Amino acid sequence: VKIFADGANIEEMLKMYESGLVSGFTTNPSLMKKGGVTDYKKFSKEVLSKISEVPVSFEVFSNDLEEMYKEAKEISSWGDNVYVKIPIMTIDRKSTKDLIKKLSDENIKVNVTAIYSIEQIKETVAALNPNTKAYVSVFAGRISDAGYDHMPIMKEAVKICSEKKNALLLWASTREIYNIHQANELGVDIITVPNEMIYKYSKRGTSLEELSYQTVKTFAEDIEKLGFKIL
Ligand code: E4P
Repeated sequence: VKIFADGANIEEMLKMYESGLVSGFTTNPSLMKKGGVTDYKKFSKEVLSKISEVPVSFEVFSNDLEEMYKEAKEISSWGDNVYVKIPIMTIDRKSTKDLIKKLSDENIKVNVTAIYSIEQIKETVAALNPNTKAYVSVFAGRISDAGYDHMPIMKEAVKICSEKKNALLLWASTREIYNIHQANELGVDIITVPNEMIYKYSKRGTSLEELSYQTVKTFAEDIEKLGFKIL
């Protein structure tokens, strides 16, 4: 599985890029809010002036289908490595499948986002042009946050995406480092991971006994700070 970095803080993105730990980047409007982005275009162009060799995804902001099309064309013109994130539906629950088809037929690389269900995966893959690269972003973590098992959905997603040339399955909303292993086992193409988790993953390999010792040590340090005595 290829690892992408999920975030919208430019310093962190550049640090991650230089670390060589990732093969691409994803952003979204909430991550931009968290990252303190105030000027979307300026931010994106700055990112792309420094990161031009690996895929970077930027999302459209509009909810009007025609406007989304125009935004997608604009965003896509920012670089050959740009994937345009198109949510699977608009805020008024209109399907974006025709827009996805139109963009994909025009050779625009889309990253279809906010996908949760098998039905949505099928609909997306059906809309994609086999000759245009695309990502199908399934929100595995948010699926399990809601109490559903994400594994059978991701397994089925691998099968559906494999039916269309150039449609790569992207595991979005990663919740734990173990998800990288799960994605790899299932044959998922890409997993996008928050930076802090990527660094932890790169340092994995500590033995369970050592982890046990570190836990006891942390407890001992906190006991010291609390200053409690039982006897
Ligand atoms: C990336 O493309 C997604 O927008 C992101 O992984 C969502 O992550 P979250 O569910 O942690 O917000």
